[in-house]
Amino acid sequence: MPNAYISGTGGYVPEQIVTNDDLRDGYGIDTTHDWIVKRTGIEARRFAPEGTCSADLAVPAARKAIANAGLTEADVDMIVFATLSPKHAFPGDGVLLQEKLGLCEQGRFIPAMDLRNQCSGFLYGLAAASSMVQSGMVRHVLLVGGETHSAALDLSTRGRTVSSLFGDGAGAVIVSPTDEDRGIRGWYLGADGRFADVLCQKVWDMSKRPFFPVPEGREGPGRVEPEMMWAHMEGRQVFKNAVERMIQVLVSACWDQKIDLADIDLFCFHQANMRINQMVAQTMGIPEEKLIHNIQKYGNTTAATIPLLLAEAEESGRLVRGMKVACVAFGSGFTWGSAILDW
Ligand SMILES: CC(C)(COP(=O)(O)OP(=O)(O)OC[C@H]1O[C@@H](n2cnc3c(N)ncnc32)[C@H](O)[C@@H]1OP(=O)(O)O)[C@@H](O)C(=O)NCCC(=O)NCCS
Repeated sequence: MPNAYISGTGGYVPEQIVTNDDLRDGYGIDTTHDWIVKRTGIEARRFAPEGTCSADLAVPAARKAIANAGLTEADVDMIVFATLSPKHAFPGDGVLLQEKLGLCEQGRFIPAMDLRNQCSGFLYGLAAASSMVQSGMVRHVLLVGGETHSAALDLSTRGRTVSSLFGDGAGAVIVSPTDEDRGIRGWYLGADGRFADVLCQKVWDMSKRPFFPVPEGREGPGRVEPEMMWAHMEGRQVFKNAVERMIQVLVSACWDQKIDLADIDLFCFHQANMRINQMVAQTMGIPEEKLIHNIQKYGNTTAATIPLLLAEAEESGRLVRGMKVACVAFGSGFTWGSAILDW
């Protein structure tokens, strides 16, 4: 059985920079730069222009990852797309990306799979992609995390707790086989459905007839009420569980891999809140210099945070061949995961 490794990385964020002051001055949100920075570490985020979906953001990220792996589009055998902000209810963004990459024109009707594991989506995708590569059934999997949160944020004072956190972007990696002694050594995933209502966006409810609620005293097909359009988050509950689960899943990974935390050269934590990551690092005695962040400039880009981190770290020379890397994520579901990689 071959090892599976990340052979290429790529990232893309839209051009429009929205600072914390822009949230206040441009959108009229009652907030301050200091409040947001103190609680989250976020200084700015990117917003995609009208007419752009997550698959559009994924195109340049994917192209960079493919080139970085020394491949062409025609070498990709499968697409795995992790997002919580797909363009439509269905089909998923994986098939949209396949078409946008020009694969259909080339007669490359490769499988395209969507994953809905929110902030843990990239690590769930890495587990799926590496297992498929190791099985020998596919060679090069294009794994993407892409989000266009800005379309679905309540950019008003009412929604400030959630809307100040999220931004748009995409990150991509190529997962390939290798006979070398390197690659994705193990992945560790978990979920706790008891917390499904704590962090969610319930635009519709398929258990109801009709699946959009009908306002009281009215008839008809129903309609989306504003509170159904936006994400609901119980922030403190999320914070507490994130710290606990991230520690747990990192310890499990080290235990299973028979390594010490000190053996890990670089920690790529999901970028939900700088304070969550600092608390995990402090609790576990991880030195600050081994942690990398992009939340200051991009906010929480959900499934895109870890592949964006990997792409930027590789591009800047912070992440080099031979390093041992730990990726850890936590998010809606709740879902969580970790992965240990020899780069
Ligand atoms: C979101 C989070 C930063 C909020 O911090 P908090 O200390 O829990 O703050 P609270 O939600 O209790 O709100 C405290 C006050 O600040 C206000 N507030 C919320 N967002 C604000 C903002 N952007 N600007 C100014 N004030 C804000 C609240 O309205 C509240 O005001 P009140 O006391 O008058 O009611 C924090 O809970 C968090 O980071 N949780 C984890 C979120 C996360 O990781 N989500 C993604 C998971 S993948």
